[in-house]
Amino acid sequence: MIGGSGLYSLFADGTAESYEIDTPYGRTSSPVTVGVLGGKRVAFLTRHGAGHSVPPHQIGFRANIWALAALGAKAIVSSSAVGGVHPDYPPGTLVVTDQFIDRTWGRADTFFDQGSVQHLAAADPFDPALRRFAIDALASELGSFAPSGTCVVIQGPRFSTRAESLWWQQAGAHTVNMTMVPEVPLAAELNIGTVNLSFVTDSDAGLAPSDEDDSPDGDSVSHDLVMKRLAEAQPVIVRAIERIVAAIPAGFAPRELIPAAAVTEVLARPVSA
Ligand code: ADE
Repeated sequence: MIGGSGLYSLFADGTAESYEIDTPYGRTSSPVTVGVLGGKRVAFLTRHGAGHSVPPHQIGFRANIWALAALGAKAIVSSSAVGGVHPDYPPGTLVVTDQFIDRTWGRADTFFDQGSVQHLAAADPFDPALRRFAIDALASELGSFAPSGTCVVIQGPRFSTRAESLWWQQAGAHTVNMTMVPEVPLAAELNIGTVNLSFVTDSDAGLAPSDEDDSPDGDSVSHDLVMKRLAEAQPVIVRAIERIVAAIPAGFAPRELIPAAAVTEVLARPVSA
């Protein structure tokens, strides 16, 4: 489980073990805590570090994914705060994201820049079976949610201009975020499936897409608004994550998108202390 903004711990005090994990790509964003959630043993790390100390463009995505792979993870449930750029995705919407558009740059976004050459098939970047488990679990748990959605992933740390926000909408995006890439494709490169649960905290640049005029509204994004809305929604988000984890079958086998031998080679790389 990778927790996004606002989700800095998952287990009750004293119920989880905590590990500092060194990887070939340095330390993970936070210690990895291992505890029980949804009846399963789950490893958790928080993407932005304790106290939200790591900005999106400086997250050690490869370290985080490598560490979870080294612990034996086959599935990642990730949570994200996103802005809504489509009228059907207003603040408060939970989304089981199925596509992304990558607008990031300069991030270390592959494990295969050494060793063998591999080209990830990314048509369906989120694991379809995990998404199905999540959608079924949420259907019985929540009144309404969005079972699919395209997220445009921006570089950050600044938010989008109004023109960009309109562009995301016109490009077919429903939500906007800063971290889904390269996290999701890196996990897929190590044959780990990801299912993402996004919570829409704001309407991005304030262009409520259904508005007649272009005036910003009370849902326009600011960091404070994102954190406030996440804090309010935390119980619902954690409960949804728990239901998703519980719905993943014990013997879940992700897609083998990269030959197993190439993944084994990545996991055998020397750790930098
Ligand atoms: N995370 C939450 N809201 C966001 C927004 N509007 N843009 C980028 N990332 C976000």
